[in-house]
Amino acid sequence: MRDHPLEPSTFEMRAMGATALALVEEFIRDLPDAPVADLDGAMEVADSLRESAPEHGTSFETLLDTVAISAKKSINGSGPGFLAYIPGGGLYTSALADLIAAGLNRYVGLAGMAPAIAQIEATTVRWLCDMFDYPEQARGVLTSGGSMANFSAVVTARKAKLDEDFSTGVLYTSAQAHASCVKAGYLAGFPKARVRLVPADDALRMDVAALAAMVAADRAAGLRPFMITASAGTTNTGSVDPIARIGDFARANDLWLHVDAAYGGPFRMTDHGRTLFHGIELADSITLDPHKALFVPYGTGALIVRDGARLRAAHHVSADYLQDLTGLEEQIPSFSEYSMELSRDFRGLRLWLPIKLHGMAAFRDALDEKLALTRYLYDNLTGTPGFEVPLEPDLTTVAFRYVPQHGDADEFNRRLLHRINASKRIFLSSTILDGNFVIRVCIVSHRTHFDRIEEAARIIKSAAYDLERYERMSAPVAAVPG
Ligand SMILES: Cc1ncc(COP(=O)(O)O)c(C=O)c1O
Repeated sequence: MRDHPLEPSTFEMRAMGATALALVEEFIRDLPDAPVADLDGAMEVADSLRESAPEHGTSFETLLDTVAISAKKSINGSGPGFLAYIPGGGLYTSALADLIAAGLNRYVGLAGMAPAIAQIEATTVRWLCDMFDYPEQARGVLTSGGSMANFSAVVTARKAKLDEDFSTGVLYTSAQAHASCVKAGYLAGFPKARVRLVPADDALRMDVAALAAMVAADRAAGLRPFMITASAGTTNTGSVDPIARIGDFARANDLWLHVDAAYGGPFRMTDHGRTLFHGIELADSITLDPHKALFVPYGTGALIVRDGARLRAAHHVSADYLQDLTGLEEQIPSFSEYSMELSRDFRGLRLWLPIKLHGMAAFRDALDEKLALTRYLYDNLTGTPGFEVPLEPDLTTVAFRYVPQHGDADEFNRRLLHRINASKRIFLSSTILDGNFVIRVCIVSHRTHFDRIEEAARIIKSAAYDLERYERMSAPVAAVPG
């Protein structure tokens, strides 16, 4: 028995590292053939994991087996067939970065603790700012996700536009915006009635005339409108709000414009996205989610703010016991001064490493591929009898439903979704559009290519036709009168 059991020897570290990497490598290797969902027995596995803390240790191999079976018994969000919600693939190179970052365990909350490490993260944030042509004074932080970024955006806008007394402040977002935009308002201290949902137009984009009318009515009622959150890709359908027009309105009315680009943001690197997001470069702040369209593992969001001083003004609180480590701000930002967090992981590496290793062109090409795959699926379903595809996709989401010749379409599509997902080759999710139950396909993962989307089209169509045929055959025969 060694003196310090918590510190493995070099030999042990190497052996454990090799075992852990083998698990990840096999998992990634098997992704194309693995079922997209395997929840049979998942609850039994979960039940077996409820236990009190052990007094003595278990072998590393046994523990990895537990992790592997737990991961297997789940919806496999990493594979090429996961097309539900907003997929996140998880780059292997990012996973390695996490291992390295945690192994080095450097402190990045204050730049003075590890200036070059903090700079790596600051450089990564700068690349995100460059993606939107943000000026030199822009600043940002990597967050745990888009929800945290949207929350910090509201706090920043609140401080910038209302300062201490924000009791009469009102913020606006579209009825199609992600729930985190609304939640951010509530958590930032605004009552429900002050978080206004602007109606969307037929293309499910924010109706700017309705926004203007709501702002005018609130002003007339003595309230203080201060912020608009536009969406650069809604979760429901990927619709992109008219950002330039909303921006003009915001500037003319002294309102903070935040853009939730958690889903769509990185598409700005593509020619299509550059046109679609026209005006985003003038937004006061932007939420991004690198764990979506930059393919890094879950746990990485970002908020970038055009005038970085505003972000700092909303988040910086000094403390005497940190005085030795301050003073680098002019050269390298201390992230704790720009966010809620003080201590946190070195999360910049999970983005810096893959971008340096693969180059931005690899990401841009992958996003162009997703746009082309979406167009293929859209054309395919649109041209198939019985399918309704209400919107031409702005980004990479196709929402559709099958309208059966008889019976309730909503109920039919509920069963259709179930049947499609039972294929275990693709996994889709649903939403409600215009009061109708619709199924959605969202193509974001770096692992999803033409073969899977072609297969998806086949699965969807044959599931719809088979289900309709089955239901027709099993329908009760109408009684003959007389
Ligand atoms: C448009 C949009 N905004 C915000 C979020 C919230 O991001 P997160 O889940 O990373 O907190 C999502 C998540 O899907 C999203 O699609």
